[in-house]
Amino acid sequence: MDHLADPTFLRQHCQKWRTQGLTVALVPTMGFLHAGHLSLMDHARTCADRLVVSIFVNPTQFGPNEDLDRYPRDLPHDLKLARAHGVDLVFAPEAGAMYQPDHAAWVDVPELGQVLCGASRPGHFRGVCTVVTKLFGLVRPDFAVFGQKDWQQLAIIRRMARDLELGVAVIGRPIFREADGLAMSSRNVFLTPEERDKASAIRQGLLLVQQAVQAGERDAAKLGLMFRAHLGEKLAMARVDYAELVHPEALSPVARVEAPTLLAVAVFVGRVRLIDNILLEV
Ligand code: PAF
Repeated sequence: MDHLADPTFLRQHCQKWRTQGLTVALVPTMGFLHAGHLSLMDHARTCADRLVVSIFVNPTQFGPNEDLDRYPRDLPHDLKLARAHGVDLVFAPEAGAMYQPDHAAWVDVPELGQVLCGASRPGHFRGVCTVVTKLFGLVRPDFAVFGQKDWQQLAIIRRMARDLELGVAVIGRPIFREADGLAMSSRNVFLTPEERDKASAIRQGLLLVQQAVQAGERDAAKLGLMFRAHLGEKLAMARVDYAELVHPEALSPVARVEAPTLLAVAVFVGRVRLIDNILLEV
């Protein structure tokens, strides 16, 4: 497995593969890899001849008061995991190698990027789109694999790749969960034992809403309130940032659940902001 930090070397490496007629899959990550990331890599491994994983805590997707400085990092461990999962190349640059001091170009999908997480994290998806475009430009992958936990991110990157003809097939993979249902996230390590213990209420709340839909409830406002009430009862220390029922691709609010609808939630548990979602089928 190769480990590169220089974008020029990454470009050359991937260019060499392409001239050999090999296909390339990319899994972009911010590192501190967990089983969810590994499942993305295992899938990506089956898509293409060569697999690139990027590990980069991208500063431009963090707001001024967010957790950029304390975002967990463990590159040596990540490299071991990547090697064990058949990764051909890990790209782990420094921020200065990715952004020139006078960096001025941005990629944005404002219509999809200013709702849900974008409403409470202004500029977040502009940072995500910009770094993912840069990675696509360097690697020029045939496939790129993302997790569905960040459903909004996936929907935005799909739209960006389609609208800008980036020539990459964007693949979404199911959420990987802990045994009690909590969605895996690098940020889970920041939960206190008590918070961690109770955080599975988020998943239970999503399932409760799904049951209500299956039992015939269609009113999106009522379903949203049901989730909030469940958290109020089971995870009183939490603050719901949002719990919204939206169209799965357009991310626009729906009033009634008459077609597959995404229930997307973001919840502050102590200092940690957790996101999760469920696709409600009728
Ligand atoms: O999902 C993430 O870890 C990040 O947003 C991504 C896609 C690697 C871009 O920095």
